[in-house]
Amino acid sequence: MKARFEVNGHEVEVAVEPRLTLADCLRHHLRLTGTHVGCEHGVCGACTVLLDGKAVRSCLMLAVQAEGSKVVTVEGLSKDEGLTPLQASFRKHHALQCGFCTPGMITTAHALLTEEPECDADRVREVLSGNLCRCTGYVSIVEAVLDARTAYKGGSR
Ligand code: FES
Ligand code: FES
Repeated sequence: MKARFEVNGHEVEVAVEPRLTLADCLRHHLRLTGTHVGCEHGVCGACTVLLDGKAVRSCLMLAVQAEGSKVVTVEGLSKDEGLTPLQASFRKHHALQCGFCTPGMITTAHALLTEEPECDADRVREVLSGNLCRCTGYVSIVEAVLDARTAYKGGSR
């Protein structure tokens, strides 16, 4: 089947098996390997991407279901020149170690901060509770997200 959607601002048309997940389509057909695949069961959050602005698990949907949508991966949240405020905050707070969970953390946090730039620590913890990290203990991740709120309030992300 053909699946046509937008990825990081570019229209794509991919020939896929109907059973192919969006995660595997992004990684293997479009070479966007920043989207990680951990559990493949919707549990770990490593595969989180933005679908029409909402954080979704790309392992839980089929590529053909993205037809007509706007998909943004962690690559699409980066800039050529330097780190974004959210990325810089993760570095500043040592919010990553192995980095496997980081793309999902960044995409999830970006969606949260875009919609709720005034969110507090409890809200950050609630939203990130669906993203597993086996390294950091989460405290530094929550601090990084809270510290990045300023950039989203100013709209300069
Ligand atoms: S790989 Fe999708 S939630 Fe774990
Ligand atoms: S930094 Fe290793 S899993 Fe989160």
